[in-house]
Amino acid sequence: MSSNNESHSGPGGSEAINTEIITLTRFLTEEQTKHKEATGDFTLLCHSLQFAFKSIAYYIRRASLINLSGLAGSANSTGDDQKKLDVIGNDIFISAMRSSGRVRILVSEEEDEPIVFDEHPTARYAVACDPIDGSSNLDAGVSVGTIFGIYKLAEGAKGTKEDLLRPGTDMVAAGFTMYGASAQLVMTMKDGPVNGFTMDSALGEFILTHPDMKMPRKRSIYSVNEGNSYWWEDPVKEWCDTLKKPEKEGGKPYSARYIGSMVADAYRTLLYGGIFAYPADKKSPKGKLRILYECAPMAMVFEQAGGQAVNSKMDRMIEIIPESIHDKSGIFMGSYEEVQKVIDIHNKYKK
Ligand code: AHG
Ligand code: MN
Ligand code: MN
Repeated sequence: MSSNNESHSGPGGSEAINTEIITLTRFLTEEQTKHKEATGDFTLLCHSLQFAFKSIAYYIRRASLINLSGLAGSANSTGDDQKKLDVIGNDIFISAMRSSGRVRILVSEEEDEPIVFDEHPTARYAVACDPIDGSSNLDAGVSVGTIFGIYKLAEGAKGTKEDLLRPGTDMVAAGFTMYGASAQLVMTMKDGPVNGFTMDSALGEFILTHPDMKMPRKRSIYSVNEGNSYWWEDPVKEWCDTLKKPEKEGGKPYSARYIGSMVADAYRTLLYGGIFAYPADKKSPKGKLRILYECAPMAMVFEQAGGQAVNSKMDRMIEIIPESIHDKSGIFMGSYEEVQKVIDIHNKYKK
């Protein structure tokens, strides 16, 4: 007899079969039972999120086959051209959040104004999302993903955009997916571990494959669009220059890796270590990436995996309060020691 935890060889096969899989659904149920006060609302919201991720992953896979490549002919709130899949991803996300019945207000990169679900006046959550991050990479089949942050509404909240103009430290959960060779989901709850799930398409389930992710303390990989370096401030230029000089005789400089989809650059950085940056610069003094649905959720994941995330003023990213729902920020995030190098160089300039 074998115990439940064992992997066994299949009948006649040599592949080890794990019969004790932790699916996202099971994981969420088990988390809920740990919190005696839980009502199940958060779990239901996560089930709807899960469905949105699966649907978006499905349409991305089929994009070239069913004429979903290319532009939709419109622009979003921050002036970016929308791809057809940006529009579809956004519609899928809105529909999933509405049907969960647990979301009062939703901010999406693709919507100028927050969407308030008046049909659910007692719903207690607010969600911010980038339905498809990295959409300029879509038509080349390069990985893209979805970023999300979840806030619990304060008692008596009216369901207005002010309910989301809060620091990332107020989030109850955050994470992102990456639709790559397989769909990956990285998720963390406030003050909890970071867990990574991999979509098993045959089962149609996200499986816990990377429990309690901890990122390396350092790694000589940097990820930044150096094409903007002409506009960078001096500390950023100095930081990047130091990475390209070997620290000692015969040593190696850092490796450059830049995919141009934050989710994919972030996922690699979480697993391998290193640093991802999109600094504010002289041309874009507020940076490019959006606080609510790009910077803050990533900051929560990186900090809880043992790394750091700061803005271009070297303030802790997760403590920044956005001035508007699409407010932007510079960001440096990654291995603890790699971000510390950036902070140390900036401090030198402050003196
Ligand atoms: P989005 O596709 O949601 O607009 O986000 C794109 C973002 C992010 O994914 C990436 O890190 C960055 O923009 C790339 O910008 P550049 O092309 O300027 O390097
Ligand atoms: Mn994005
Ligand atoms: Mn996007």
